[in-house]
Amino acid sequence: MFSKAYSATIHGIDGLIVSVEADVSDGLPIFDMVGYLGSEVKEARERVKIALKNSGFRLPAKRITVNLSPADIRKEGTAFDLPVAIAILTALGFLQEENLKNVLIIGELSLDGSIRKVNGVLPIVYSAQQKGFSKCIVPRENAKEGAVVGNIKTYGVSTLLEAVDLLREDSDFVPETVDVDALLQTKNQEDGIDFSDVAGQKAAKRAIEIAVSGMHNILMIGPPGSGKTMLARRIPTIMPELSFEESMEISKIYSISGLLDNRGLILQRPFRSPHHTITTSALVGGGRIPRPGEISLAHQGVLFLDELPEFQKNTIEVLRQPLEDKMVTIARLHATFRYPAGFMLVAAMNPCNCGYYPDRNQCNCSVNQVKRYLNRISQPLLDRFDICIEALQMNYKELEGKTEEESSEQIRRRVNIARQMQIERYKNTKIYFNSQLTPRTIKKYCKLDQKEQTLLEQAFIKMNLSARAYHRILKCARTIADLDQSERIKGKHISEAICYRSLDQKYWGE
Ligand SMILES: Nc1ncnc2c1ncn2[C@@H]1O[C@H](COP(=O)(O)OP(=O)(O)O)[C@@H](O)[C@H]1O
Ligand SMILES: [Mg+2]
Ligand SMILES: [Zn+2]
Repeated sequence: MFSKAYSATIHGIDGLIVSVEADVSDGLPIFDMVGYLGSEVKEARERVKIALKNSGFRLPAKRITVNLSPADIRKEGTAFDLPVAIAILTALGFLQEENLKNVLIIGELSLDGSIRKVNGVLPIVYSAQQKGFSKCIVPRENAKEGAVVGNIKTYGVSTLLEAVDLLREDSDFVPETVDVDALLQTKNQEDGIDFSDVAGQKAAKRAIEIAVSGMHNILMIGPPGSGKTMLARRIPTIMPELSFEESMEISKIYSISGLLDNRGLILQRPFRSPHHTITTSALVGGGRIPRPGEISLAHQGVLFLDELPEFQKNTIEVLRQPLEDKMVTIARLHATFRYPAGFMLVAAMNPCNCGYYPDRNQCNCSVNQVKRYLNRISQPLLDRFDICIEALQMNYKELEGKTEEESSEQIRRRVNIARQMQIERYKNTKIYFNSQLTPRTIKKYCKLDQKEQTLLEQAFIKMNLSARAYHRILKCARTIADLDQSERIKGKHISEAICYRSLDQKYWGE
């Protein structure tokens, strides 16, 4: 007897349908599995055999062959256990082939027949829906993330027997539901942090507002305790609210990484803050079975590198390509994987070992020590930041907080206006944000009148700017003009943008 069940595997951040064929025939009692299998999938044999036995099904002394196709896609992970068991039970006549039509099945089996959660359920159910499946059977613990997809019934099951009962007759079972609209309503009432918590720091807040508006990378320099981490942590709160599509895209990445909580949907812009000891593959993604790294977990949000000079040089170096492409590509012998990585890079650093340079009352570092510390940040890396600012230590008066500080929501309203200007300007192009402008597109979208042109040229000569710095100033000025709802880039926009590059001179200049 021959039968076929449907399952799926993850490729990049998408689900890919896999058919699981089982054949039972006379011959030596052997259980064989084929179809370009990773090691966990090969081990499914043992788990399935014992789980079937412990669920009360006796395998006859026959030859069982299971084939997973398509053959050119390598299958990894443990999610094929359940569909393999189901296909075998069907080939043996415990279930009708009819029962398996239009049903996608995933789940890891324990030896006692219970079903364990697996990664990647959200993108898998999503692709099942796209392919016209009507039902998905998934581990109970993953049911919510499946239900988020909609237009397909997702059933959570706890045991192999439950899955069998469900396939025989589903009328007693209720598909999982998630009220996506209600979830989306709750999205901004979460961890309660807000820019109004930060007293003073007007200049830093302004720079951050500009950075978020144009998705410019930003570097903050300042002594310990000046509020760098505090400011960075609040950046996601002024980013535009996530659309449902963006939420889904991020949630897929978290689903694959096994990081979705039981609501099944990521509702807030990510803020990822990996420690400086992080490995390259944990940062950009990788591993034997490739997984998204921190830069993909920060997709649509913020990647915060605190204590930037402490990171390994080569770890930072690998960020260059994804920073340009908003995507990371991981090549393996058997396939190439692509993960989204559209994050805003925020970094913070002390200006020297002790942290208090140039305050000579507090900093005893020698000039050379300071230089060596700062030079851990190479010029090419520094060039990645359109905006560099100082976070200055606050005095007590400011910290007392007599004045009411602006809320994140107020700031976000202005950010949204600047974003809208960009959407209008760049419609029908592949550009979303000013920070993505290339030297060629800068010419087109950041045209200057003669007066402004002269202003910039003078600064260029006086500050001994590189061509890269020149372009970064123009992009930043474009965003400042957008916040001002001005299609024309004016002198004051240029001047402010130049300020955000002047720290190069102060700290890194000769
Ligand atoms: N502008 C500020 N308003 C309110 N609290 C502040 C401010 N700056 C610093 N703090 C307080 O100081 C603490 C240390 O700030 P932190 O962000 O960790 O500094 P840094 O990262 O620059 O070392 C914060 O947790 C906060 O309690
Ligand atoms: Mg800090
Ligand atoms: Zn010092």
